[in-house]
Amino acid sequence: MRNSLLVVALTALVAGCASVKVADFDSIQEYTLKNKAGMEVRLTNYGATITAINTADRNGNMADITFGYNDVSGYMNAVDKPYFGAVVGRYGNRIAKGKFTIDGEEYELATNNNENHLHGGVIGFDKVVWDAEVIDKNTIRFTYLAKDGEEGYPGNLSIAVTYTLTEENEIQIDYFATTDKATPVNLTNHAYFNLKGEGEGDILGHELMINAKGFTPVDKGLIPTGEIAPVAGTPFDFTSAKPIGRDIGQTDQQLEYGLGYDHNFVLDKEGKEGQMTLAATVYEPTTGRLMEVFTKEPGVQFYCGNFLQGNLVGKSGKAYIHRGGFCLETQHYPDSPNQPNFPSTILRPGEDYESRTVYRFSVR
Ligand code: GLA
Repeated sequence: MRNSLLVVALTALVAGCASVKVADFDSIQEYTLKNKAGMEVRLTNYGATITAINTADRNGNMADITFGYNDVSGYMNAVDKPYFGAVVGRYGNRIAKGKFTIDGEEYELATNNNENHLHGGVIGFDKVVWDAEVIDKNTIRFTYLAKDGEEGYPGNLSIAVTYTLTEENEIQIDYFATTDKATPVNLTNHAYFNLKGEGEGDILGHELMINAKGFTPVDKGLIPTGEIAPVAGTPFDFTSAKPIGRDIGQTDQQLEYGLGYDHNFVLDKEGKEGQMTLAATVYEPTTGRLMEVFTKEPGVQFYCGNFLQGNLVGKSGKAYIHRGGFCLETQHYPDSPNQPNFPSTILRPGEDYESRTVYRFSVR
């Protein structure tokens, strides 16, 4: 990562939005985790971002299967804010009109997605420099203190995100946070995957299973209506694995609103709320790569790169085309602070926010 030329750009970015002060530009670095099997994950403390994931296909050939840039300026300047590989927050996903009330007090957040708040605001956790602590060759911990009032959120929120590359070819992400005022918190990672390799065409042939009998339908602005609708008989039924592209062209109002899949699925926790359960599996038939996602979270946003248009060029010089990557963002449901029937996302002083997601890679 080359940092020196970026100081000016970053200063401008920060000056434009007063609430966050990025103090130390030279502290932006890239780190590499490796395991004995040869899997390699690269990360940067800019946004606590995964920049590369190198895994083997069924013939042992390695490829980088996640989107990213070679240079931190790519992450900073990216148009359309795709959030490649970053931790998003303080509230991942949308909050309607950027407003919510806690204990009778109304809060107003930055609105950065038309009239709504998305992924923590104008300078969310994906656009700040985190502190990094290398624990060992498999583990790195990023920490960040989000100030009271940052992007409009109440409370100083102290966050730690720990990435571990296990010897079982898993990326384990542990999220931890505490606050000094009641605040909504919803942390996730926004990695884009293409199991053929980043920039290798579209992902419509990937076979996806989502462990969810229900999903949260949305309005035009992608804010949940509050209903939990059954997926059965709709294009949203991924309870048995099917190619992502199989039903994506169907005439369906929800697909229209999302321009494809861009929806929160309600995971079948089988009474195991807050425990690790299978969220999804994705299999890519030509390379044999398989990714399994496990999480403590109650939901997962399945987004299939509908906003990608081929204008962003990634680290190996290939364009990231429309539906060239997908995200499985494990999370609480969107707009929970305004949805009394959704599991609560409010963290209070004295409580621990603790969550874990595992992406496991193998071949078939
Ligand atoms: C999330 C949202 C999408 C889009 C992407 C980033 O997944 O749900 O609507 O904003 O992030 O492009």
